[in-house]
Amino acid sequence: MVLAATGDRLPQVVYWGAPLPMGADLDTLHAAHAIDVTGGMLDANPDLSLCPEAVRSFPGQPGLILRDGDGTPLLPKFCYAGEDTSDGLSLTYADDAAGLTLTFLLRPDPSTRIITAKTVLTATRPVHLHWLAAPVLPAPQQSAEMIDVSGRWCGEFQLNRTAWSPGIRTRENRTGRTGHEHFPGLLIPCFGATNTQGEAYGFHYGWSGGHRMVAEELPDGRRQVQWGHVGRSEQSPGTRFESATLYATYSQTGLNGCATSFQRHVRDRIVTWPKPDTPRPVHYNCWEAVYFDHKLPVLTDIATRAAELGAERFVLDDGWFGMRDDDTRSLSDWTVDARKYPDGLGPLIDHVHAQGMTFGIWFEPEMINPDSDIHRAHPDWALGSEDQTLGRQQKALNMALPEVRDFIYDRMAAILSAHDVDYIKWDHNRVLPMPDADQTRGSYALIDRLRADFPGVEIESCASGGGRIDFGILGRTQRVWLSDSNDALERLRIQHDAALFLPLAVTGSHVGPRRCHTSGRTIDISMRAWVAAQRHMGFEMDPRELTDHEAAVLTEVTAWWKRNRDWMHHADIHLLDSPDPAVLAEQQQARDGSRFVVFAGKAATSAQISPRTLRFTSLEPDATYRVELINRDTAPGLSRGTPILKTGPIEVSGAWLMHQGVTLPWHFPETMWVLEGTRL
Ligand code: GLA
Repeated sequence: MVLAATGDRLPQVVYWGAPLPMGADLDTLHAAHAIDVTGGMLDANPDLSLCPEAVRSFPGQPGLILRDGDGTPLLPKFCYAGEDTSDGLSLTYADDAAGLTLTFLLRPDPSTRIITAKTVLTATRPVHLHWLAAPVLPAPQQSAEMIDVSGRWCGEFQLNRTAWSPGIRTRENRTGRTGHEHFPGLLIPCFGATNTQGEAYGFHYGWSGGHRMVAEELPDGRRQVQWGHVGRSEQSPGTRFESATLYATYSQTGLNGCATSFQRHVRDRIVTWPKPDTPRPVHYNCWEAVYFDHKLPVLTDIATRAAELGAERFVLDDGWFGMRDDDTRSLSDWTVDARKYPDGLGPLIDHVHAQGMTFGIWFEPEMINPDSDIHRAHPDWALGSEDQTLGRQQKALNMALPEVRDFIYDRMAAILSAHDVDYIKWDHNRVLPMPDADQTRGSYALIDRLRADFPGVEIESCASGGGRIDFGILGRTQRVWLSDSNDALERLRIQHDAALFLPLAVTGSHVGPRRCHTSGRTIDISMRAWVAAQRHMGFEMDPRELTDHEAAVLTEVTAWWKRNRDWMHHADIHLLDSPDPAVLAEQQQARDGSRFVVFAGKAATSAQISPRTLRFTSLEPDATYRVELINRDTAPGLSRGTPILKTGPIEVSGAWLMHQGVTLPWHFPETMWVLEGTRL
């Protein structure tokens, strides 16, 4: 990336892409970047700077919109004021007459190939901020489309492809949380790019309060991408504002280059692991087994069975507190329900520990039901108007109030202090009445305080499934509950697309009930188990429903996952270019390239008779690999031939695997082939 500035004006990115030779003449690159002037244009083209300025007649969306304390629009003109290169690059610009300074912080990470970028605005007196973009980056000309991400409950991470055209593609999330609907990510493939090849650019805005993205093609053809907090979410005038961190990357290996950069950066730079050397434990979560119906003998029986199947952490979900017999009441009454737990949580936790598992517990800290003791005592603690429409019969607490944060902290700390708890499932099941950056900062402050005082406790970010997944919350948590859909078919698709941004290490995936509770589908245990084994594995069905065969398959796949999790934790997930739309395939590869596993999930019936060959990626062409279809014994009777992978491993070159690809046996839909590869 090359930044250049004319005189003392704001800098602009004049090059961003494949590495250039060191020692390139930057003055030439700057001069050669300028576009011509013709009819119908100003006499000089305003810079597409890190913060395009309205006052310099920029012909598109400005990077900053603000008003003075009395409401007068401010149109600052920033000039160079200083720089600091001690930690990345910090560039400061000032408009002394307006009493404003603007600082850009950019930091490249050569190992993950991510550039982090942030903008900070300060003022000498309180001003009203409407929009502050993180450092504004150009989008490539060699691109026909952009890919952004929407979704819904049980259908997270849906990719949208939009053609570039003059004007703006805006994603504006006014829900007050990251949301299923608006994951803050963008990929820009250049012409011909696929998962595995071509050039691509990737962006992510690490903020949990709702973002605004502007991808704009200017009348002159230049393209800009802006990211910031959703507009007008700063409710109060202030003297200092900052964007969240923007994560940006460039790839020469297709979308996978962006994906693996994001995966590595999340796992190795953003998440802080309380016990980095401890493997990710297999989870058991009791939600879909018992819902609100908590009975100690049932839960202990379930815990015993879960441990026998291989679970290592038992998570007690919603229903343990207040009078929480359904989802209409008791949120914020965070004391143990003595009707269900007459001797407190101790007996259950002791039993869980006796099975060799650790114990985790569910909270929904930012929420309050009108039918709760706390709402009756402090109705003013709730956010929004009295006659607001509720969400799941609940309101959000006003997290900007210190007394609210103290109260929740005290209640949660009481549970964490009284028991040996190593995990919180932290839920956030409704949208806010309005976007409010103070709310997000309040949530972050509460999490930070709890983590400081209980550093051994891990946190999972959940919001009706994947409603709060972003790199801001992942700086404070260690896992995301990707979706409430435990339907293995839906999960296969969701986690495939989510891997464009998320590594295995943080992506929860559970084996659900035989008949899925959110889709009504009945799916074979082998498919359910392998889909969960693609990510951070867990179980969520009632183990009492398992047949002996189902229990045996689940035990076996779980044991496989445990044998492989150490290297898979650090692996890159590459999405394969499957020539059959019915097959979703990925290759998880060790960082040193010495081994990999390919999962080829057959989500539907194929149009053609025989499976199409599946090409692998990112291998050494001249190296020899041993490739084995490890679950070949599950080929059905209708697979009557003898493709070689059905009989045993093969030894072939990386070149052959990448340019010809493997021919898998015929299989039913809703099944998964699993191939292990070793470099010899
Ligand atoms: C949300 C979560 C579920 C479960 C319930 C409990 O819906 O996504 O996993 O924890 O809340 O009420």
